[in-house]
Amino acid sequence: MTRIGMGLVGAGFVGPHHVDAVRRLGFVDIVAVAGSTEESGRRKAEALGARRGYGSYEGLLDDPEVQVVHIATPNYLHYQVTSAALARRKHVVSDKPLATTAAESGKLVEEANRAGVVAAVTFNYRGNPLVQQMRHAILRGDIGAPHFLTGYYLQDWLIKDTDYSWRLDPDKGGASSALGDIGSHWCDLAQYVSGLRITHVLGDITTVIKKRYKPRGSREAFDATNGHEGADLVDISVDDLASVLVRFDSGAKGTFSVAQVCAGHKNDLTLEICGRAASLSWRQEHQNELWRGLRDKANEVLVKDPSLIDPEVRRYARLPGGHQEAWADAFFNVIRDVYASILARSTGSAVSSPAFATFEDGHRACCIVEAILNSAARGGVWTEVLC
Ligand SMILES: NC(=O)c1ccc[n+]([C@@H]2O[C@H](COP(=O)([O-])OP(=O)(O)OC[C@H]3O[C@@H](n4cnc5c(N)ncnc54)[C@H](O)[C@@H]3O)[C@@H](O)[C@H]2O)c1
Repeated sequence: MTRIGMGLVGAGFVGPHHVDAVRRLGFVDIVAVAGSTEESGRRKAEALGARRGYGSYEGLLDDPEVQVVHIATPNYLHYQVTSAALARRKHVVSDKPLATTAAESGKLVEEANRAGVVAAVTFNYRGNPLVQQMRHAILRGDIGAPHFLTGYYLQDWLIKDTDYSWRLDPDKGGASSALGDIGSHWCDLAQYVSGLRITHVLGDITTVIKKRYKPRGSREAFDATNGHEGADLVDISVDDLASVLVRFDSGAKGTFSVAQVCAGHKNDLTLEICGRAASLSWRQEHQNELWRGLRDKANEVLVKDPSLIDPEVRRYARLPGGHQEAWADAFFNVIRDVYASILARSTGSAVSSPAFATFEDGHRACCIVEAILNSAARGGVWTEVLC
Protein backbone atom coordinates (compact mmCIF):
# COMPACT_ATOMS: atom_id res chain seq x y z
CA MET A 1 0.00 0.00 0.00
CA THR A 2 1.10 3.60 -0.64
CA ARG A 3 2.80 5.07 2.42
CA ILE A 4 2.32 8.72 3.33
CA GLY A 5 4.73 10.86 5.35
CA MET A 6 3.39 13.35 7.89
CA GLY A 7 5.01 16.09 9.93
CA LEU A 8 3.67 17.82 13.04
CA VAL A 9 4.28 21.48 13.89
CA GLY A 10 3.55 22.11 17.59
CA ALA A 11 3.53 19.17 19.98
CA GLY A 12 1.89 20.46 23.15
CA PHE A 13 -1.50 19.18 24.34
CA VAL A 14 -3.30 18.33 21.10
CA GLY A 15 -0.36 17.72 18.73
CA PRO A 16 0.39 14.23 20.09
CA HIS A 17 -3.27 13.27 19.44
CA HIS A 18 -2.69 14.03 15.74
CA VAL A 19 0.23 11.59 15.87
CA ASP A 20 -1.79 8.93 17.72
CA ALA A 21 -4.56 9.22 15.14
CA VAL A 22 -2.33 8.85 12.07
CA ARG A 23 -0.43 6.02 13.72
CA ARG A 24 -3.70 4.06 13.98
CA LEU A 25 -4.06 4.24 10.19
CA GLY A 26 -1.07 1.99 9.69
CA PHE A 27 0.13 3.49 6.40
CA VAL A 28 1.42 6.85 7.66
CA ASP A 29 5.04 7.48 8.63
CA ILE A 30 5.67 9.99 11.42
CA VAL A 31 8.50 11.72 9.61
CA ALA A 32 9.15 14.81 11.68
CA VAL A 33 8.11 17.08 14.50
CA ALA A 34 8.94 20.79 14.64
CA GLY A 35 9.14 22.59 17.97
CA SER A 36 9.84 26.20 18.82
CA THR A 37 13.55 25.44 19.43
CA GLU A 38 16.04 22.84 18.15
CA GLU A 39 16.07 21.26 21.58
CA SER A 40 12.27 20.99 21.93
CA GLY A 41 11.93 19.74 18.33
CA ARG A 42 14.46 16.98 18.98
CA ARG A 43 13.00 16.07 22.38
CA LYS A 44 9.41 15.94 21.11
CA ALA A 45 10.36 13.97 17.99
CA GLU A 46 12.01 11.39 20.21
CA ALA A 47 9.02 11.23 22.59
CA LEU A 48 6.58 10.76 19.70
CA GLY A 49 8.71 8.28 17.77
CA ALA A 50 9.25 10.62 14.80
CA ARG A 51 12.32 10.14 12.58
CA ARG A 52 13.50 13.75 12.80
CA GLY A 53 13.07 16.83 14.95
CA TYR A 54 13.28 20.40 13.67
CA GLY A 55 13.73 23.70 15.50
CA SER A 56 11.58 25.60 13.03
CA TYR A 57 8.55 24.86 10.90
CA GLU A 58 10.45 25.92 7.77
CA GLY A 59 12.88 23.02 8.26
CA LEU A 60 9.99 20.57 8.50
CA LEU A 61 8.23 22.01 5.45
CA ASP A 62 11.42 21.65 3.39
CA ASP A 63 11.67 17.95 4.30
CA PRO A 64 10.73 16.14 1.05
CA GLU A 65 9.37 13.14 2.98
CA VAL A 66 6.73 15.28 4.70
CA GLN A 67 3.67 15.19 2.45
CA VAL A 68 1.02 16.14 5.01
CA VAL A 69 1.59 18.94 7.52
CA HIS A 70 -0.38 18.90 10.78
CA ILE A 71 -0.48 22.27 12.56
CA ALA A 72 -1.10 22.34 16.31
CA THR A 73 0.70 25.51 17.37
CA PRO A 74 -0.85 28.46 19.19
CA ASN A 75 -3.38 30.16 16.91
CA TYR A 76 -1.26 33.14 15.75
CA LEU A 77 1.07 30.78 13.85
CA HIS A 78 -1.67 28.92 11.95
CA TYR A 79 -1.82 31.37 9.06
CA GLN A 80 1.91 31.62 8.38
CA VAL A 81 2.62 27.90 8.76
CA THR A 82 -0.39 26.89 6.66
CA SER A 83 0.38 29.43 3.97
CA ALA A 84 4.02 28.26 3.77
CA ALA A 85 2.91 24.59 3.60
CA LEU A 86 0.46 25.34 0.80
CA ALA A 87 3.15 27.24 -1.12
CA ARG A 88 5.09 23.94 -1.10
CA ARG A 89 1.92 22.09 -2.21
CA LYS A 90 1.72 19.97 0.92
CA HIS A 91 -1.60 18.68 2.24
CA VAL A 92 -2.58 20.47 5.48
CA VAL A 93 -4.45 19.42 8.59
CA SER A 94 -4.81 22.59 10.64
CA ASP A 95 -6.14 22.56 14.12
CA LYS A 96 -8.89 25.07 14.79
CA PRO A 97 -9.30 27.97 14.43
CA LEU A 98 -8.02 28.07 10.86
CA ALA A 99 -6.63 31.59 11.49
CA THR A 100 -7.03 34.42 13.96
CA THR A 101 -8.92 36.66 11.51
CA ALA A 102 -11.46 36.00 8.78
CA ALA A 103 -9.27 37.96 6.34
CA GLU A 104 -6.48 35.44 6.87
CA SER A 105 -8.71 32.36 6.82
CA GLY A 106 -10.25 33.64 3.57
CA LYS A 107 -6.78 33.91 2.03
CA LEU A 108 -6.02 30.35 3.10
CA VAL A 109 -9.12 29.08 1.29
CA GLU A 110 -7.84 30.67 -1.92
CA GLU A 111 -4.29 29.42 -1.37
CA ALA A 112 -5.52 25.86 -0.72
CA ASN A 113 -7.65 25.91 -3.86
CA ARG A 114 -4.65 27.11 -5.89
CA ALA A 115 -2.40 24.42 -4.38
CA GLY A 116 -4.96 21.70 -5.22
CA VAL A 117 -4.26 19.74 -2.03
CA VAL A 118 -6.45 18.28 0.72
CA ALA A 119 -6.90 21.00 3.34
CA ALA A 120 -8.73 20.12 6.55
CA VAL A 121 -9.53 21.69 9.92
CA THR A 122 -9.89 19.44 12.96
CA PHE A 123 -13.42 20.08 14.13
CA ASN A 124 -13.14 16.62 15.60
CA TYR A 125 -16.57 16.25 17.23
CA ARG A 126 -17.95 15.60 13.76
CA GLY A 127 -16.30 12.17 13.94
CA ASN A 128 -18.33 10.88 16.89
CA PRO A 129 -20.65 8.00 15.84
CA LEU A 130 -23.71 9.48 17.54
CA VAL A 131 -23.01 12.91 16.06
CA GLN A 132 -23.03 11.18 12.69
CA GLN A 133 -26.26 9.39 13.65
CA MET A 134 -27.85 12.68 14.72
CA ARG A 135 -26.83 14.35 11.47
CA HIS A 136 -28.05 11.44 9.37
CA ALA A 137 -31.42 11.37 11.17
CA ILE A 138 -31.91 15.12 10.75
CA LEU A 139 -30.92 15.21 7.08
CA ARG A 140 -33.32 12.28 6.49
CA GLY A 141 -36.12 14.36 8.02
CA ASP A 142 -36.69 12.31 11.19
CA ILE A 143 -37.33 15.36 13.39
CA GLY A 144 -38.94 17.55 10.72
CA ALA A 145 -37.43 20.89 9.77
CA PRO A 146 -35.27 22.13 12.66
CA HIS A 147 -36.71 25.34 14.13
CA PHE A 148 -34.50 25.74 17.21
CA LEU A 149 -30.84 24.85 17.87
CA THR A 150 -29.43 25.33 21.33
CA GLY A 151 -26.58 24.30 23.55
CA TYR A 152 -23.34 25.34 25.12
CA TYR A 153 -19.67 24.58 25.37
CA LEU A 154 -18.49 25.03 28.95
CA GLN A 155 -15.16 24.26 30.60
CA ASP A 156 -13.60 25.14 33.95
CA TRP A 157 -9.85 24.94 33.33
CA LEU A 158 -9.45 28.77 33.31
CA ILE A 159 -11.61 29.44 36.38
CA LYS A 160 -8.83 30.56 38.74
CA ASP A 161 -6.89 33.79 38.38
CA THR A 162 -3.76 31.63 38.55
CA ASP A 163 -4.86 29.68 35.44
CA TYR A 164 -3.20 31.00 32.31
CA SER A 165 -2.92 30.08 28.61
CA TRP A 166 -1.58 31.83 25.51
CA ARG A 167 -5.28 31.83 24.48
CA LEU A 168 -5.75 34.83 26.82
CA ASP A 169 -3.11 36.90 25.00
CA PRO A 170 -4.68 38.45 21.86
CA ASP A 171 -1.27 38.47 20.12
CA LYS A 172 -1.15 34.67 20.38
CA GLY A 173 -4.77 33.55 20.56
CA GLY A 174 -6.53 36.22 18.49
CA ALA A 175 -9.15 38.84 19.35
CA SER A 176 -11.37 36.28 21.08
CA SER A 177 -10.49 33.58 23.57
CA ALA A 178 -13.37 31.25 24.55
CA LEU A 179 -15.40 32.05 21.43
CA GLY A 180 -12.56 31.32 19.01
CA ASP A 181 -11.30 28.37 21.00
CA ILE A 182 -14.51 26.46 21.73
CA GLY A 183 -17.34 28.57 20.29
CA SER A 184 -15.91 27.78 16.86
CA HIS A 185 -16.43 24.06 17.61
CA TRP A 186 -20.08 24.62 18.62
CA CYS A 187 -20.87 26.69 15.52
CA ASP A 188 -19.23 24.18 13.20
CA LEU A 189 -21.04 21.28 14.84
CA ALA A 190 -24.45 22.99 14.78
CA GLN A 191 -24.09 23.77 11.07
CA TYR A 192 -22.68 20.36 10.17
CA VAL A 193 -25.31 18.35 12.04
CA SER A 194 -28.28 20.45 10.91
CA GLY A 195 -27.10 21.15 7.37
CA LEU A 196 -27.98 24.83 8.02
CA ARG A 197 -25.79 27.94 7.91
CA ILE A 198 -25.55 30.61 10.56
CA THR A 199 -26.36 33.91 8.85
CA HIS A 200 -26.80 36.43 11.71
CA VAL A 201 -25.59 36.65 15.31
CA LEU A 202 -26.12 38.81 18.36
CA GLY A 203 -23.35 38.45 20.92
CA ASP A 204 -22.91 39.34 24.58
CA ILE A 205 -19.27 38.95 25.63
CA THR A 206 -17.80 39.01 29.11
CA THR A 207 -14.38 38.85 30.74
CA VAL A 208 -15.18 37.32 34.13
CA ILE A 209 -11.57 37.22 35.33
CA LYS A 210 -10.09 40.60 34.49
CA LYS A 211 -6.64 40.07 36.00
CA ARG A 212 -4.62 36.87 35.95
CA TYR A 213 -1.23 35.66 37.05
CA LYS A 214 0.76 35.03 33.87
CA PRO A 215 3.69 32.64 34.38
CA ARG A 216 7.06 33.97 33.18
CA GLY A 217 7.89 30.58 31.57
CA SER A 218 5.72 28.78 28.99
CA ARG A 219 2.83 26.51 29.97
CA GLU A 220 0.95 24.06 27.75
CA ALA A 221 -2.83 23.76 27.63
CA PHE A 222 -4.64 22.13 30.56
CA ASP A 223 -1.45 22.26 32.67
CA ALA A 224 -2.83 22.26 36.23
CA THR A 225 0.31 23.87 37.67
CA ASN A 226 -0.63 27.23 39.07
CA GLY A 227 0.29 29.72 41.74
CA HIS A 228 1.54 33.26 42.13
CA GLU A 229 5.24 32.28 42.20
CA GLY A 230 7.15 33.29 39.07
CA ALA A 231 4.07 35.00 37.63
CA ASP A 232 3.07 38.59 36.83
CA LEU A 233 -0.42 39.98 37.38
CA VAL A 234 -1.70 41.08 33.94
CA ASP A 235 -4.92 42.61 32.60
CA ILE A 236 -7.13 40.35 30.48
CA SER A 237 -9.14 41.88 27.65
CA VAL A 238 -10.53 38.81 25.87
CA ASP A 239 -13.72 36.83 26.57
CA ASP A 240 -13.91 33.89 28.95
CA LEU A 241 -17.74 33.86 28.78
CA ALA A 242 -20.08 34.62 25.88
CA SER A 243 -23.74 34.14 25.02
CA VAL A 244 -25.02 34.36 21.48
CA LEU A 245 -28.40 34.50 19.72
CA VAL A 246 -28.25 32.95 16.28
CA ARG A 247 -30.31 32.95 13.08
CA PHE A 248 -29.93 30.26 10.42
CA ASP A 249 -30.48 30.47 6.67
CA SER A 250 -33.67 28.36 6.89
CA GLY A 251 -35.28 30.77 9.35
CA ALA A 252 -34.43 28.52 12.32
CA LYS A 253 -33.37 30.29 15.52
CA GLY A 254 -30.72 29.34 18.03
CA THR A 255 -28.81 30.25 21.14
CA PHE A 256 -25.57 29.08 22.68
CA SER A 257 -23.13 30.00 25.42
CA VAL A 258 -19.44 29.32 25.82
CA ALA A 259 -17.28 29.72 28.90
CA GLN A 260 -14.04 28.43 30.36
CA VAL A 261 -14.92 29.58 33.88
CA CYS A 262 -17.85 27.28 34.81
CA ALA A 263 -16.96 24.93 37.68
CA GLY A 264 -17.54 21.25 37.10
CA HIS A 265 -17.87 21.50 33.32
CA LYS A 266 -14.71 19.88 31.98
CA ASN A 267 -15.32 19.65 28.24
CA ASP A 268 -19.06 20.02 28.18
CA LEU A 269 -20.28 20.58 24.64
CA THR A 270 -24.03 20.12 24.21
CA LEU A 271 -26.03 20.47 21.01
CA GLU A 272 -29.80 20.11 20.88
CA ILE A 273 -31.81 20.46 17.70
CA CYS A 274 -35.59 20.70 17.86
CA GLY A 275 -38.02 19.96 15.05
CA ARG A 276 -41.80 19.51 15.27
CA ALA A 277 -41.61 15.70 15.15
CA ALA A 278 -38.82 15.29 17.73
CA SER A 279 -35.79 16.84 19.36
CA LEU A 280 -32.31 15.31 19.37
CA SER A 281 -29.61 16.14 21.88
CA TRP A 282 -25.96 15.07 22.14
CA ARG A 283 -23.59 15.89 24.98
CA GLN A 284 -19.84 15.38 24.62
CA GLU A 285 -19.35 14.41 28.27
CA HIS A 286 -21.91 11.59 27.73
CA GLN A 287 -20.96 10.98 24.13
CA ASN A 288 -22.19 7.39 23.92
CA GLU A 289 -25.81 8.50 24.36
CA LEU A 290 -28.17 10.31 22.00
CA TRP A 291 -31.38 11.68 23.51
CA ARG A 292 -34.60 11.83 21.51
CA GLY A 293 -37.38 13.98 22.90
CA LEU A 294 -40.96 13.19 21.85
CA ARG A 295 -44.33 14.83 22.52
CA ASP A 296 -46.68 11.81 22.49
CA LYS A 297 -44.40 8.98 23.58
CA ALA A 298 -41.80 8.49 26.25
CA ASN A 299 -38.46 10.09 25.45
CA GLU A 300 -35.70 7.72 24.35
CA VAL A 301 -31.96 7.37 24.78
CA LEU A 302 -30.02 5.56 22.05
CA VAL A 303 -26.95 3.99 23.60
CA LYS A 304 -24.17 3.73 21.03
CA ASP A 305 -24.08 0.32 19.40
CA PRO A 306 -23.00 -0.17 15.78
CA SER A 307 -25.88 -2.59 15.23
CA LEU A 308 -28.42 0.06 16.33
CA ILE A 309 -27.22 3.01 14.30
CA ASP A 310 -27.87 3.56 10.62
CA PRO A 311 -25.72 1.49 8.24
CA GLU A 312 -24.65 4.67 6.42
CA VAL A 313 -22.82 5.96 9.54
CA ARG A 314 -21.74 2.67 11.06
CA ARG A 315 -18.13 3.17 9.94
CA TYR A 316 -17.82 5.90 12.60
CA ALA A 317 -18.39 3.38 15.42
CA ARG A 318 -15.06 1.77 16.19
CA LEU A 319 -16.20 -0.51 18.99
CA PRO A 320 -19.13 -2.83 19.77
CA GLY A 321 -22.01 -1.78 22.05
CA GLY A 322 -21.04 -1.28 25.69
CA HIS A 323 -17.47 -0.36 24.70
CA GLN A 324 -17.30 3.39 25.10
CA GLU A 325 -16.20 5.51 22.17
CA ALA A 326 -14.17 8.52 23.26
CA TRP A 327 -12.77 11.88 22.18
CA ALA A 328 -9.70 10.28 20.58
CA ASP A 329 -11.84 7.86 18.53
CA ALA A 330 -13.84 10.72 17.05
CA PHE A 331 -10.58 12.56 16.33
CA PHE A 332 -9.26 9.45 14.61
CA ASN A 333 -12.40 9.11 12.46
CA VAL A 334 -11.93 12.62 11.12
CA ILE A 335 -8.23 12.04 10.41
CA ARG A 336 -9.09 8.74 8.69
CA ASP A 337 -11.41 10.57 6.31
CA VAL A 338 -8.71 13.19 5.62
CA TYR A 339 -6.16 10.54 4.66
CA ALA A 340 -8.75 8.59 2.63
CA SER A 341 -9.25 11.80 0.65
CA ILE A 342 -5.48 12.22 0.20
CA LEU A 343 -5.19 8.65 -1.09
CA ALA A 344 -8.22 9.09 -3.33
CA ARG A 345 -6.75 12.28 -4.80
CA SER A 346 -3.61 10.43 -5.82
CA THR A 347 -5.72 7.99 -7.84
CA GLY A 348 -8.10 10.61 -9.23
CA SER A 349 -11.06 9.24 -7.24
CA ALA A 350 -13.10 10.81 -4.42
CA VAL A 351 -14.39 9.82 -0.98
CA SER A 352 -18.13 10.08 -0.46
CA SER A 353 -19.17 12.49 2.35
CA PRO A 354 -15.94 12.65 4.34
CA ALA A 355 -16.62 13.93 7.88
CA PHE A 356 -13.81 16.44 8.09
CA ALA A 357 -14.21 20.21 7.95
CA THR A 358 -12.72 21.82 4.86
CA PHE A 359 -10.92 25.16 4.82
CA GLU A 360 -14.23 26.69 3.66
CA ASP A 361 -15.83 25.37 6.86
CA GLY A 362 -12.89 26.65 8.92
CA HIS A 363 -13.17 30.06 7.27
CA ARG A 364 -16.91 30.13 7.95
CA ALA A 365 -16.26 29.50 11.66
CA CYS A 366 -13.78 32.42 11.71
CA CYS A 367 -16.37 34.68 10.02
CA ILE A 368 -19.00 33.73 12.61
CA VAL A 369 -16.67 34.44 15.54
CA GLU A 370 -15.70 37.77 13.99
CA ALA A 371 -19.37 38.70 13.49
CA ILE A 372 -20.08 37.88 17.15
CA LEU A 373 -17.19 40.11 18.25
CA ASN A 374 -18.47 42.92 16.00
CA SER A 375 -22.00 42.50 17.35
CA ALA A 376 -20.80 42.71 20.95
CA ALA A 377 -18.50 45.67 20.23
CA ARG A 378 -21.53 47.63 18.96
CA GLY A 379 -23.47 46.94 22.14
CA GLY A 380 -25.17 43.71 21.07
CA VAL A 381 -26.86 44.26 17.70
CA TRP A 382 -27.84 41.71 15.07
CA THR A 383 -24.87 41.30 12.74
CA GLU A 384 -24.67 39.49 9.43
CA VAL A 385 -22.04 36.78 8.98
CA LEU A 386 -20.17 37.94 5.89
CA CYS A 387 -18.45 35.16 4.01
N1 LIG B 1 -9.40 20.10 18.02
C1 LIG B 1 -9.44 20.27 19.32
O1 LIG B 1 -10.34 19.84 20.01
C2 LIG B 1 -8.34 21.05 19.97
C3 LIG B 1 -8.02 20.84 21.32
C4 LIG B 1 -6.98 21.59 21.86
C5 LIG B 1 -6.30 22.53 21.10
N2 LIG B 1 -6.67 22.73 19.80
C6 LIG B 1 -5.94 23.72 18.98
O2 LIG B 1 -4.62 23.24 18.76
C7 LIG B 1 -3.70 24.29 18.83
C8 LIG B 1 -2.69 23.98 19.93
O3 LIG B 1 -3.36 23.97 21.17
P1 LIG B 1 -2.75 23.19 22.44
O4 LIG B 1 -3.87 23.15 23.41
O5 LIG B 1 -2.13 21.93 22.02
O6 LIG B 1 -1.66 24.25 22.90
P2 LIG B 1 -0.33 23.96 23.70
O7 LIG B 1 0.13 25.27 24.22
O8 LIG B 1 -0.54 22.84 24.66
O9 LIG B 1 0.69 23.45 22.58
C9 LIG B 1 1.21 24.30 21.58
C10 LIG B 1 2.60 23.78 21.24
O10 LIG B 1 3.11 24.53 20.15
C11 LIG B 1 4.50 24.76 20.40
N3 LIG B 1 4.98 25.90 19.63
C12 LIG B 1 4.89 27.22 19.93
N4 LIG B 1 5.52 27.95 18.98
C13 LIG B 1 5.96 27.06 18.06
C14 LIG B 1 6.67 27.22 16.84
N5 LIG B 1 7.04 28.42 16.38
N6 LIG B 1 6.99 26.11 16.13
C15 LIG B 1 6.62 24.89 16.57
N7 LIG B 1 5.96 24.67 17.73
C16 LIG B 1 5.62 25.77 18.46
C17 LIG B 1 4.55 24.98 21.91
O11 LIG B 1 5.87 24.82 22.39
C18 LIG B 1 3.60 23.91 22.39
O12 LIG B 1 4.28 22.69 22.58
C19 LIG B 1 -4.50 25.57 19.06
O13 LIG B 1 -4.69 26.24 17.86
C20 LIG B 1 -5.82 25.08 19.63
O14 LIG B 1 -6.90 25.91 19.29
C21 LIG B 1 -7.64 22.01 19.24
